[in-house]
Amino acid sequence: MTGPVNRPRRLRQNPAMRRLVAETRLHPSQLVLPMFVADGIDAPQQIGSMPGVVQHTLDSLRAAAADAVTAGVGGVMLFGVPKPEDKDATGSVGARPDGILNRALSALRSDLGDDTVIMADTCLDEFTDHGHCGVLTGSGAVDNDATLRRYEELAVSQASAGAHVVGPSGMMDGQVAAIRDALDAEGFIDTTILAYTAKYASAFYGPFREAVGSSLQGDRRTYQQDPANRLESARELLADLEEGADMVMVKPAMSFLDIVRDVADRTDLPVAAYQVSGEYAMMAAAGERGWIDFDAAIDESVLSIARAGASIILTYAAPDVARRLARA
Ligand code: PBG
Repeated sequence: MTGPVNRPRRLRQNPAMRRLVAETRLHPSQLVLPMFVADGIDAPQQIGSMPGVVQHTLDSLRAAAADAVTAGVGGVMLFGVPKPEDKDATGSVGARPDGILNRALSALRSDLGDDTVIMADTCLDEFTDHGHCGVLTGSGAVDNDATLRRYEELAVSQASAGAHVVGPSGMMDGQVAAIRDALDAEGFIDTTILAYTAKYASAFYGPFREAVGSSLQGDRRTYQQDPANRLESARELLADLEEGADMVMVKPAMSFLDIVRDVADRTDLPVAAYQVSGEYAMMAAAGERGWIDFDAAIDESVLSIARAGASIILTYAAPDVARRLARA
């Protein structure tokens, strides 16, 4: 009898065998649900480009967050959408205790306590009238160091409101160190920093801009990374490690899986990856047309992100993926 010496198909012969030899195993607690909460709305607003995702009212946010926790997700990441008339050049409403994001953080912390990890987007773009992630100089450039002062204030306000984790997403140089110092100075030594270590200037953020009613004209290429670059992410990682990051993130996930792997290979810290709005929207749109099986595509993509090296995955489909994992 001759035949192949190696028969890898033996290990694929039935579901039980495949389960036994699976190299990547996901758990619902690895998933984080990004959520939008808007000021001045009295019912949840569907986001057109993200089927199944809404801008929440405070009440619907509380219900949806409780549901996500029941589904087993490991955390929620909150984004605030202020009333358009509350936006200004410095995004001041972001840090106000009565701003929508801080009110939402307080509400979720009082509902959920330490049952889940409550994370806040620590950035100005949702709150500025020009839509940039920082404050501008007289000539309209994003002013790095002046922005750090705003981030310090924002992070401290979010920690006071009850965030367990702050997530600086603006890609300003020195943002992790500045926020760490500010938190420590106010006694928030346990407030954890999820550093957006490698955040690329990506076309896949498109639907998010609708989701937060972004005012941005132009682009973010002077602060977010060029998608052409790989080694730059290693330098960003070194900086974040030196500055005291507790967890590091790569974003977007799917077109940057090589970066997820690089970062995971270079640090022992937890590595997160963010499956962004455009990734979700692509799969949702194709699913609606019957071109792909949306649930299967989402599950496969989340698995791929984990296989690339992420131990924490942010995805708008987190509760559904978590429920399917719990059933598997
Ligand atoms: C900035 C921020 C953005 C996203 C998360 N944080 C937008 C941007 O950088 O333009 C995008 C998330 C997504 O697309 O799902 N605060």
